[in-house]
Amino acid sequence: MTSEHSGHNNARPVILDCDPGHDDALAILLAAASPELKVLGITTVCGNTTLANSTRNALRLVNFANLGIPVARGAAKPLLREPSLDVPRVIHGESGLNGPEIPESPRGAVEESAVEFIVRTLRESDRKITLIPTGPLTNIATVLLAAPDVKDKVEEIVLMGGALLHAGNITSAAEFNIYADPEAAKIVFHSGIPITMVGLDATMKCVLTDDIIAEIRSMGTPVPVLAADLLDFYNSTIKRHYSEAGGSLHDPLAVAVVLDRTLVETRLMYVDVETQSELTRGETVGDVWGITGHHPNVEVCLDADGDRFFELLIGRLRAKWGRK
Ligand code: RIB
Ligand code: CA
Repeated sequence: MTSEHSGHNNARPVILDCDPGHDDALAILLAAASPELKVLGITTVCGNTTLANSTRNALRLVNFANLGIPVARGAAKPLLREPSLDVPRVIHGESGLNGPEIPESPRGAVEESAVEFIVRTLRESDRKITLIPTGPLTNIATVLLAAPDVKDKVEEIVLMGGALLHAGNITSAAEFNIYADPEAAKIVFHSGIPITMVGLDATMKCVLTDDIIAEIRSMGTPVPVLAADLLDFYNSTIKRHYSEAGGSLHDPLAVAVVLDRTLVETRLMYVDVETQSELTRGETVGDVWGITGHHPNVEVCLDADGDRFFELLIGRLRAKWGRK
């Protein structure tokens, strides 16, 4: 299969696990536009929207941008809890990717489930693979439960989720991806796999402005114009719901960190996930002072350079899809 996402020869193999979702869509485009990466697949999960919608949205985006990346359908609900769709529906709309009209994809998802796809791809790969989850961690946790042998084939997990010192965005204690499936997050955080947590402490520094969206739109070709239409919708709903200056681009920062770790300031520490309390469900609790005696398991992103992040994002979109 000829594909647009192949990257250069020694490109870093990655799998995106996501719940598109507007910012997930930009994460997919950034990864596909970056020749340092070889996107082996996109796996979908219930999070911002239903599994059916997140899968449909991933397929529509891959088709529209001619990315040639296989899409595998994942979990229809969190491990133990019911989906948390109310707030995401406000942000991302009923379809999960409201705003511009995006044609249906003539191609469907692959036969394999997300878990089967990830497990087979890891087992067959002659290189370790980086997993970049940008939704609830249900699929990743299920992979680890179903096939613990594949842990050794994971280079690292760079996930968008959590919050150390920054207030949560679904409750004041928790960020949405972790809140939606805290049991899955707990399994992943305790897996022993190297984890970088790209949480709200970093992503809330990547705030969209009308000028940024206008610069993307000015590229003038179908994919950047679609991206600008998606961002206009997302920016408007975030500003209305959170009365913030602009929408933070959470998920693409996780991809950007894989591309350039200097975009963020990180600290290695022990992090656990609250699963018992309904008040603080999904809180990512970091041993900031190193007093628990537990072995540090997560590189936590404490800060990010938002300007350099947007320079990277815009530069990649222009290089890939801007007018030649
Ligand atoms: O909290 C932000 C995260 O929740 C992002 O991944 C966004 O897409 C939503 O899934
Ligand atoms: Ca997401």
